[in-house]
Amino acid sequence: MPIGIFDSGLGGLTVQQEIASRIPDQSLVYLGDNKYAPYGVRDHEQIYSLTQNAIERLWNAGCDLVIVACNTASAVAVKRMQEEWLPENKRVLGVFVPLIEAVTERQWGDNSAPKEVGVKQVALFATPATVATRAFQRELAFRAIGVDVEAQPCGGLVDAIEENDFELAEALVQSHVSALLRRMPNPQAAVLGCTHYPILKKCFEKALGPNVQVYSQGRIVAESLMHYLNRHPRFKEKGEALFLTTGDVDKVSLAATRFLSKKMLFKSV
Ligand code: DGL
Repeated sequence: MPIGIFDSGLGGLTVQQEIASRIPDQSLVYLGDNKYAPYGVRDHEQIYSLTQNAIERLWNAGCDLVIVACNTASAVAVKRMQEEWLPENKRVLGVFVPLIEAVTERQWGDNSAPKEVGVKQVALFATPATVATRAFQRELAFRAIGVDVEAQPCGGLVDAIEENDFELAEALVQSHVSALLRRMPNPQAAVLGCTHYPILKKCFEKALGPNVQVYSQGRIVAESLMHYLNRHPRFKEKGEALFLTTGDVDKVSLAATRFLSKKMLFKSV
């Protein structure tokens, strides 16, 4: 069956592209909830119910496994869904845990006690809603000790990217990085905790300087999915990639084409 990949808007395409390049035959259905993006300024109940609606649409498209390629929805909704809503035959995977496993040098399924890790100071860049959940700090504390996290809510950045206003987006990256560095002058690692941000990775790297290792999710999530599929081969199926949106098809296709610098065609969900 096809695997669903969901984001509030264009950001999850950074994850979809990495999955498609590593598992090229796999049938994939991408859904951007562009009509309601950005999620990161919404309250938790809204994010939860928008995420439920989007996942149900992907179930209707035949996807029993859905990757929530949105940190905001992953942080706010995935755990709660797994606990209280998900039917037995459906799976929903967030993008948070693989990233934290990479930062803390942990293998999947390693449930041993938290240990000291190489990195001591981590800068987190994410949406205001993701930062407010403190989900990153919580998941990190399950795996590592002695790591300080300084989080920067990057207001305005998803909107600027969705509107393809990269001049504004780059200015916002510089100002959010400066704000964080005033509070944590020498982070060893920076985490791009929003799937929209990898498109600006070079800009983050430049603003952070050469001594900061910048983590983004595409490759990490794609590799984690490959391992997951080896453990759960029933989700493998050969087929095409399909791109769906709740927004205006022409506008979203054009924005996605600019976002990825290649021709993209979306259909209405
Ligand atoms: N790409 C989403 C994320 O990873 C953006 C959320 C939003 O729409 O604000 O958090």
